[in-house]
Amino acid sequence: MRRSNDVKDYIRTIVDFPHEGILFRDVTTLFADPRGFRMAIDQMLHPFAGERIDKVIGLEARGFILGGAIAHQLSVGFVPIRKKGKLPGTTISEEYTLEYGEAIMEIHDDAIQPGEKILVVDDLLATGGTAEASIKLIERLGGEIIACSFIIDLPELGGRKKIEDMGMNVQVLCE
Ligand code: PRP
Ligand code: ADE
Repeated sequence: MRRSNDVKDYIRTIVDFPHEGILFRDVTTLFADPRGFRMAIDQMLHPFAGERIDKVIGLEARGFILGGAIAHQLSVGFVPIRKKGKLPGTTISEEYTLEYGEAIMEIHDDAIQPGEKILVVDDLLATGGTAEASIKLIERLGGEIIACSFIIDLPELGGRKKIEDMGMNVQVLCE
């Protein structure tokens, strides 16, 4: 167990993963550390103390780990947004581009009731493509997004601005 109070100290950078030129921010070391993981969850929850949240939505894949813990803490339900072809029920989809490729995100079409207050969580905001597609999916189902919360923002890739320009409250723990 590490001693630092800064979540950044628990995250490592892997050079050239998954492609040459990418500095991959690896949060598995944060999740593996009991102090680091608890700190990250507590800090992500902090801005929403006393606020009504009906559902937590986690973005594949590391958003599932964070979202499950946050939903449990809030005693609310958890809903996954997944890459194409993984969800078994009827879905709606949005295509998007990311730092190293293109993909399609999906949500079950009955996963949100109109007017539900939603907290979106993921580990990292890079170009914002994943979050943008996810916000579109949630809004198509009538969800009201309270905020999008990430551990890391990579400001040079412009994702935060893109998501804030969509009118979102964006919360990040570190850059
Ligand atoms: C990473 C990260 C975010 C996304 C951010 O996931 O966990 O979900 O990229 O990038 P963006 O802001 O440019 O969209 P990745 O797409 O690598 O998928 P994985 O979690 O399933 O490995
Ligand atoms: N997703 C997109 N860019 C990433 C990066 N540099 N590190 C981790 N996940 C990412």
